[in-house]
Amino acid sequence: MKPKAGGDGKYPVDRTSAVSGEKLMRTIMADNKLELYGTYGKVMNCGGGGSCGTCIVEVVEGKELLNERTNTEVKYLKKKPESWRLACQTIVGNKENSGKVVIQRLPQWKK
Ligand code: FES
Repeated sequence: MKPKAGGDGKYPVDRTSAVSGEKLMRTIMADNKLELYGTYGKVMNCGGGGSCGTCIVEVVEGKELLNERTNTEVKYLKKKPESWRLACQTIVGNKENSGKVVIQRLPQWKK
């Protein structure tokens, strides 16, 4: 199911915080009950193994606070925009930095 805009035409924004360098983006979202997957991905995701591609997010802000693309991502996201990441491969922070990361879930659904 496609994300739905609210009555004002804007999409809802969820916020949470995490300790730098401690967790994968996928884990942070799951721990905080933030939706990551679309309908198919909810049921059919690979559990964070980097093989299904259902956890793609677009990094809108804070790219410098994330780890480099892993080899799995380099392979999987070869033809995708630079700003796209697999949430299950993305470590948020490196213990020495802090700041804000903004992502858009399901960027492949954007028109
Ligand atoms: S959960 Fe399958 S690639 Fe990330």
